[in-house]
Amino acid sequence: MMNDWAGLPATYSDVLRRAMESLFRTFENFSEGTFIVDAEARVVWINKRYAARFGFADPEQAIGRDCEAVIPNSLMREVVKTGKPILLDILETDREPLVVTRLPLKDDAGETVGAVGFALFDELKALTPLFSHYSRVQEELIATRQSLAQARRAKYTFGSFVGTSAASLEVKRQARRAAQLESPVLLLGETGTGKELLAHAIHGGSARANQPLVTVNVAAIPDTLLEVEFFGAAPGAYTGADRKGRVGKFELANGGTLFLDEIGDMPLPLQGKLLRVLQDKEFEPLGSNRIVRADVRIIAATSADLPALVAAGRFRADLFYRLNVLTIHAPPLRERASDIEALAYAMLEDLSTQARGGSHYELQDDALRLLCAYAWPGNVRELRNTLERAVMLSDSERIDARALAPFVGSGQSGGLSAIQRVPDAQPPADGEAGNAATGPSSWNEAMAAFEKRFLSDALRANGGRVIDAAAQIGMGRATLYKKIAAHGIEI
Ligand SMILES: Nc1ncnc2c1ncn2[C@@H]1O[C@H](COP(=O)(O)OP(=O)(O)O)[C@@H](O)[C@H]1O
Ligand SMILES: [Mg+2]
Repeated sequence: MMNDWAGLPATYSDVLRRAMESLFRTFENFSEGTFIVDAEARVVWINKRYAARFGFADPEQAIGRDCEAVIPNSLMREVVKTGKPILLDILETDREPLVVTRLPLKDDAGETVGAVGFALFDELKALTPLFSHYSRVQEELIATRQSLAQARRAKYTFGSFVGTSAASLEVKRQARRAAQLESPVLLLGETGTGKELLAHAIHGGSARANQPLVTVNVAAIPDTLLEVEFFGAAPGAYTGADRKGRVGKFELANGGTLFLDEIGDMPLPLQGKLLRVLQDKEFEPLGSNRIVRADVRIIAATSADLPALVAAGRFRADLFYRLNVLTIHAPPLRERASDIEALAYAMLEDLSTQARGGSHYELQDDALRLLCAYAWPGNVRELRNTLERAVMLSDSERIDARALAPFVGSGQSGGLSAIQRVPDAQPPADGEAGNAATGPSSWNEAMAAFEKRFLSDALRANGGRVIDAAAQIGMGRATLYKKIAAHGIEI
């Protein structure tokens, strides 16, 4: 073959002709079989090896027959009819399957005059590395998609929203309605009132439930990184960018829901960009020339007073109106004290399930009255934290007001005095709880404060080593750890 190329071809068309001849010979030599059909898909040429494989000792016997009569399942007729090649295919035969390629033959006018078929090899084994690589990649892709879908599925449903007060029922009614619609949702309410829970429930109850729910906590991400977080970036788009670039949350949420938590904290320039994306439904990742279309439903939440931010020029009015279509106010817990009992029981049930050794925690009546009398500035989240601490430190599974009092209001600025801010709360009837609840310097409170100071001192004296501190004050190590957690002591 080299000889063909020895003398440099004289003309442009010579090069092409020689390339074609050489190509054909190479395929013919290395393939398992080659054959040619005419415009009627009749065999006009077949090499010896291929003819023999299909039972024709002499290739001449195959000439003039329909291609399917020589090679069952042949698709050469289709190639002749469409004039389009079938570049790679697997041909089932009565022996091993063959990997084949089929190309149309055209005349100078571009008319299809026939087709040539090559059986590239008869052992699929030759393709095994390719196939196994492909199927492994495919499997990994499926597994990743499944775990992502799992992670992005809504954590809570409407059933997770505990409460039967009129205010809670109204919130649930509005949220259910929002799930049926496509417009943006704005969730307003103090921290801990269940806005995130509602966002999950709305997504989970919507037509987008099987698509991703992606969350961005605007307050938790530095302003300088927010734009990339939202819209993504091309590789090397900014200093320190990931080498591979970054997919933005908008793109990740495509087809699903994007939950923008603490949207009141969004910097003004980004508010403008967000508004544009909501209007155009497309955007360009940072430093790329790529237009990404995003079909995303927005649920935004904030504990800030958004109208006040608008008035102060810190939140764009046009974005506010765009988001303020379906607005749901999550009421503070102190305005629905009748929910506290159900909430407390649901949470204790939860804590009991989590506790080892099958504990079952219960609230005494006086403890419940104490909970109902408090103003809960941190709302349901604070209620949950309070019960968690009380359970952790309680010696008994039956928690009374006396055991509970040190923890009510402990993490909050208001402290126990916040109880007095609730004008119509029922005063605790029980003697001891009553004392705890009416004065800021009750015995329980004083004891808790003393204990916290005492333990902090002991820890400091021992350089923060819990084991040494426990030994010094004669307390079990596990107990000390529990108390450190309950009091929120920093070591
Ligand atoms: N109505 C409710 N029923 C049950 N749990 C609730 C309810 N509202 C809030 N929670 C719980 O309280 C905590 C805070 O709720 P979250 O939705 O994060 O509040 P927000 O987003 O308004 O700050 C979460 O653990 C949540 O599950
Ligand atoms: Mg929140």
